[in-house]
Amino acid sequence: MDPRIAVVPGSFDPPTLGHLDVIRRAAGLFDQLHVLVVHNPGKEAMLPLAERQRLLEQSISEAGVEGDVIIAAWSMGLLVDYATDVGAKVLVKGIRSQVDVAYETPMAIVNRDLAHVETVFLLPDPSHALVSSSLVRQVAGLGGDVSPYVPPAVARYLDTGARGI
Ligand code: PNS
Repeated sequence: MDPRIAVVPGSFDPPTLGHLDVIRRAAGLFDQLHVLVVHNPGKEAMLPLAERQRLLEQSISEAGVEGDVIIAAWSMGLLVDYATDVGAKVLVKGIRSQVDVAYETPMAIVNRDLAHVETVFLLPDPSHALVSSSLVRQVAGLGGDVSPYVPPAVARYLDTGARGI
């Protein structure tokens, strides 16, 4: 049987505890998981792609996520091109609310139409239901403490002001 390979794509700007929760759950469901930092053409980013990738690597390692987990970045084209290249037939997304369902559904259908890649939605732990990268960006940008919402590596990074904002 072919290995079951999936991609968890996202902006991860910055990675949150909600992202980490979905990554940990997905890693237990697939033989190989690609966590992919993707450039979202519809969003102005706070952190460079390479920095987001580095923070994810650190966070996933420090959290002791088990399984075959590859962390990569992608800004060269369609997400499904990356998925097809690595043999992934599934994308995994976290769903916190009906708002997420409405946002994710058209993308899931387009990705299936483009390349027969299915999207699987996972429910994060309810304790992460209200955490979002945009909220973290806002609180961090105004000097607030974001440590309850992000992995320790991200909290350290944002706390030192290394992000340059
Ligand atoms: O964390 P986000 O910003 O909600 O993630 C959205 C993302 C980056 C996964 C989405 O914008 C995306 O897939 N972008 C890559 C470009 C692409 O393939 N677009 C067509 C299908 S939506």
